[in-house]
Amino acid sequence: MVQIAPSMLSADFLHLEEDVELVNRHAQIFHLDVMDGTFVPNISFGFPVVEAIARKARKPLDVHLMIVHPEKYVERFAKAGAAMISFHYEAALADSAAVIDLIHAQGVKAGIVINPDCPTQSIFPYLDKVDFVLIMSVFAGFGGQKFIPESLERIAAVRAELERIGRPDIPIEVDGGISPDNASAVIAAGASILVAGSSIFKARNPAKAIKLMLNA
Ligand code: DX5
Ligand code: ZN
Repeated sequence: MVQIAPSMLSADFLHLEEDVELVNRHAQIFHLDVMDGTFVPNISFGFPVVEAIARKARKPLDVHLMIVHPEKYVERFAKAGAAMISFHYEAALADSAAVIDLIHAQGVKAGIVINPDCPTQSIFPYLDKVDFVLIMSVFAGFGGQKFIPESLERIAAVRAELERIGRPDIPIEVDGGISPDNASAVIAAGASILVAGSSIFKARNPAKAIKLMLNA
């Protein structure tokens, strides 16, 4: 089953409630990008925005942490309303298993994320512990970038490893440059949660863009 996770980074922050309602009505998951200006060269939003969205959301909140020391903030994002939390392998490295345990201790689904230049094999040791995997199809940091086509092989490689270890039901999320034009290709490669920011919120008809990807 395919799920669409609109990235609220591209929403209209002056009319956030309208965009929250769009997701409630038409999509499956809220994708919330938290950036610290250190792990990535951009700063987005933090607890007050996540809490505000949580008050109106009727779909689960997926918090994508693009921050150093993700372990310091897992508990607060869980309390703010996250149902899923993902952190970058590159930000945690050898401590990744401990971060996954921390997320689980909060009763939240744990995801591990890799940027396009990180070998997929780096996260293989954690595939037996995570609830989902997030493959970046652009370098984390900014919305509105172009999809990197090599991401398709990377999704397929992680999908194959999940099958090999007997965890075929673990979803792969893909994030960056996703649109109705490439949705079917990423789904065919093995992704089932599609994050999309600009292709939804900059579309003339956002509900239609979601529907096109859902049925891709
Ligand atoms: C990028 C973020 C993405 C981004 C997606 O660092 O993780 O979630 O907002 O935006 P688009 O769909 O515009 O590439
Ligand atoms: Zn993201």
